[in-house]
Amino acid sequence: MANSQVSSFTESIFSKMSRLSLEHEAINLSQGFPNFRGPDFLTKLACDQITDPQMDKNQYAPSRGIPKLRHTLKQRYESDYNLTLNPDTEIVITNGATEGIFCAIMSLCNPGDEVIVLEPFYDSYIASIKMAHAIAIPVTLEGPDFSPDVAKIKKAITPRTRAIIVNSPHNPTGRILTDKEQRELAQVVIDHDLILICDEVYEHLTFDQKKHRPMMAINELRDRTITISSAGKTFGLTGWKIGWVIASAPLSHAIHMVHQFTTFSVATPLQWAVASALENPASYIKSFQTHYQGLRDLFCKGLEELNLPFLKPEGSYFCLMPTPSSFKSDEAFCEKLVKEIKVSAIPCSAFYLTKPVDSYVRFCFAKDEATLKQALVRLAKIGK
Ligand SMILES: Cc1ncc(COP(=O)(O)O)c(C=O)c1O
Repeated sequence: MANSQVSSFTESIFSKMSRLSLEHEAINLSQGFPNFRGPDFLTKLACDQITDPQMDKNQYAPSRGIPKLRHTLKQRYESDYNLTLNPDTEIVITNGATEGIFCAIMSLCNPGDEVIVLEPFYDSYIASIKMAHAIAIPVTLEGPDFSPDVAKIKKAITPRTRAIIVNSPHNPTGRILTDKEQRELAQVVIDHDLILICDEVYEHLTFDQKKHRPMMAINELRDRTITISSAGKTFGLTGWKIGWVIASAPLSHAIHMVHQFTTFSVATPLQWAVASALENPASYIKSFQTHYQGLRDLFCKGLEELNLPFLKPEGSYFCLMPTPSSFKSDEAFCEKLVKEIKVSAIPCSAFYLTKPVDSYVRFCFAKDEATLKQALVRLAKIGK
């Protein structure tokens, strides 16, 4: 008999929509990954590591991650965010942010513990919480601004609450938490002696000069925050799955113990390549942001010209469109999109535990210009 939590899992909405895109020959704007090459300098670096004759970089890495990557991350967090980290005791390299989220939740939760999730959410949070036999308690972010309602969060806290998960820049809404929202959330976490799990995989995907600031940089949160990020989004190489988890030494030790017996370690040559890329990334990140802001503007301007409503994202590579009132649900709208319009999107109801009051579909604009233009030509047929 399978684990009762796991046996309730079904095919993820991302796999389903990518499969339907192929079946219906639709342009895939559903799953979040770029359809263009990652930076050549980095893919070349990885090839060089694999064939490096001096040192065998193709064997198991240390379980916490290679020292060079952990030291480089220490330098990055210090210079970018003024956060001082101990690379030996406070950083674990994981198989993408997804493994980091899993390890963080497994390391914190006992069966029956509660974790507050702000919906819409990235779907792996719920699966990880269930695998720990803990309970996800949803608090809804309401559109169109999707600002966290602190009063509702406080109401959801019980003596079993262990942690709150926040994600900024946010998938799927593209929102970035304001300083005021961060301070209010911090107060709740401190007042109720909770742990904050911050998913910051889109930390460098911010637009219009907006800057991401990790919540861990708030002094009082330093030792009660688990910060999770990944190189996948920043370098447009989602298949590399090089992620990391940052936490105070005791939390980090527990996270490392879960990681040790889940994957043990992460692809060694790719860790070397990411470490080199992160040593001095300022000019790359600037051009990366300009590139994605251009794609966002192309897509949003196109929707505007078609008189289609949308929410302009401040960060991430997603754009939400409200479900037209002529459709009974976001799922029905996505079905029409993939089968008739030939563009796939994700129904945001997949990112909720409760029945959403808002109905949106999510498009991923991490696609080359030609693909986005072709998608817009097809989207012009909505409502016709
Ligand atoms: C909010 C969020 N967190 C985590 C991840 C997973 O990151 P990784 O590919 O590094 O596991 C994603 C990927 O789409 C995401 O959108």
